[in-house]
Amino acid sequence: MTPSSRPVLTAILSALAEEQHGLLEQLQGAQKQTVAGRDFWLGQLHGQPVALGLSRIGKVSATLTAAVLIGHFGASRIVFTGVAGGLAQGVKVGDVVVAHDFIQHDLDASPLFPRYEVPLYGRSRFACDPALTSLLGLAADRALATSSHDALQLLMGAQVHRGLIASGDRFVSSAAESSRLQADLQDAGHTALAVEMEGAAVAQICADYGVAFAAMRTISDRADDTAHIDFPTFVAAVASRYAQRIVNELLISLPEPA
Ligand code: ADE
Repeated sequence: MTPSSRPVLTAILSALAEEQHGLLEQLQGAQKQTVAGRDFWLGQLHGQPVALGLSRIGKVSATLTAAVLIGHFGASRIVFTGVAGGLAQGVKVGDVVVAHDFIQHDLDASPLFPRYEVPLYGRSRFACDPALTSLLGLAADRALATSSHDALQLLMGAQVHRGLIASGDRFVSSAAESSRLQADLQDAGHTALAVEMEGAAVAQICADYGVAFAAMRTISDRADDTAHIDFPTFVAAVASRYAQRIVNELLISLPEPA
C-alpha cells in the first residue's frame, strides 16, 4: 500500500496511563503492538482508525513515542492530551488550554542563538495545525458545556483558553520559579498560558514530518508551591475524564475516513 492510499490514522498521544484508560476501554478491535519498549494500541474509535500511545514524561520520551507513531505506524495526525500547570493570570485549575503553538522554556543555546530559538530552525515557536486545532477547541467547548451532570460539576465555570504553551524538562513547583519563567519568556516576547513537559517536542517532530498536530491540556495546578500536591489527585479524578470526553467529541467531528 502506498502512503497516499493508506487510511488516515489518527494518533491519540496521552501523557499518562490514567488518561488513556477510558479510551482503551472504548477501543474496538483493539490490538497491542510493542515498539521501542512501549505499548501501542491500534483499533477504531467512532469509526476512525486510531493508534493510542503514551508519551511518558519529558521531551525525549515524548519525541520517541511521536516518532514511532509517525514513522512506524504511519499516523497522519497526532492529538495530544495531558495536564499542565497554569501560568497566565486567569488560567485556573480545571480549565482547559488548547495549544496554538509551543515553545521550549528550557532551551538556551545563547550566545550562539537567541534564547529559546531551536538551533538551525531559525524559530522558537512551533505552531499546531490550525484546522485540527480549531476542531479540538470546539470539541473542548462542547465537552465542558455538557459536563454539568456528574462529578465534573465541581468544576463548573471551567473555561477553554487558546494560546501558547511552554514545555521543558522540569516540573515547575514553586511560585518563584513560575514567575521567573513567565517573566523571562515575556522579556523575549512570548506569553505562555501554561507549562508542561512534552508538547513542544511533539510539535517540532510533527513539523519535521509534515504531520498535523493538535494538543489540549487540562490545568491540574498553578505551577506554584502546592503544584506537587494538586497534581496526582487531579489527574486521577478529573483530567482523565476530560481527556476522554474531548477526544470523543473531536473524533465524532472528524470527517469520515476515506
Ligand atoms: N504538568 C502539570 N503540572 C505541571 C507543572 N507544574 N510543571 C510542569 N509540568 C506540569
